[in-house]
Amino acid sequence: MSETRKPLVVGNWKMNGDLAGNAVLLSGVLTGVAGIDQGAVGVAVCPPFPYLSQAAQVLAESPVQVGAQNVSAFENGAYTGEVSAAMLSELGCAWVIVGHSERRAMLGETDEQVAAKAAQALRSGLGVIICVGETLEDREQDRTQAVLARQIEALASLAQQADPNKFVVAYEPVWAIGTGRSASTEQAQAAHAFIRAGLEAIGFRAASKIRILYGGSVKPANAQGLFEMSDIDGGLIGGAALSADDFIAIVRAAALARG
Ligand code: PGA
Repeated sequence: MSETRKPLVVGNWKMNGDLAGNAVLLSGVLTGVAGIDQGAVGVAVCPPFPYLSQAAQVLAESPVQVGAQNVSAFENGAYTGEVSAAMLSELGCAWVIVGHSERRAMLGETDEQVAAKAAQALRSGLGVIICVGETLEDREQDRTQAVLARQIEALASLAQQADPNKFVVAYEPVWAIGTGRSASTEQAQAAHAFIRAGLEAIGFRAASKIRILYGGSVKPANAQGLFEMSDIDGGLIGGAALSADDFIAIVRAAALARG
C-alpha cells in the first residue's frame, strides 16, 4: 500500500443474492463502515444487475459506492440482453467491473472487447475495474508475465482518457479465485509491480497513481499481509464479500495498511 493511493475494497457478489438477503448484507456493510475512517479507504459493492437499484437506494448518502459486474461495449440500440454504461450511471453506479476471468473464460470475452467495454464506461463517467490474471497453466508454464503483458497492452488506447481516480486494475490470478488458495504476498506484489510498469510503458503517465487491487481468495486472515505490499492498493473480494463481517474486516485491514 502506498501513501499516495487511497486503497479501495470492492465486493463482487457475482450471481448471488436476493432482495431479503441483500437487505441484511447491505445493512451490515453500512453499520460496519460507520466505524472506519472514510478518508483511509474507498468501499464499493457490485450486486447483480437486478439489485443495483436496491443497493443504490440503501447506500445513498453513505460512503459505500455501487458498481456493476459488466457493461455493454455499445452505447445503445439493438443489443438484446445487454446493459449500457449510461443506464448504470443513471441507476447510481460509480463503478463497473470489466473483463472478470469468469467472463473471459466462460463467455469468451476477448482483450479487445474488454478494452471497448472499459472505453464505453469511461465515456459515460463510470469508474472501471479491469480484471487481468493468468491461469494455473500459464503460471506453471512460466507465462504469467506474457499473459499479463498481453492483457495490459490491450488497454493502451485508454491511456489518454483514463483519470487515475476512475481507472483501476484488479490482478486476479485465475487459480486463486474461489479456490481458497490465495497468491502469496510476494507473488502478488511481483505481479502488481509488473502491471504498474506495463501501464507506464504503454503510456499511462499517471501509472503511479493508478490503484491495482488484488483479488483471489482474500479473507480477513490474509488481507492485511496482502495490503501491506507496496503495489497492492486494496482488493476485489468475491466469496468473503457475501458476509458483512468478513467484508468489513477486509475493509478495515485496507484502512489500517495505508501508509
Ligand atoms: P474470491 O473471488 O474472493 O471468491 O476468490 C474474487 C473474484 O472473483 O473477484
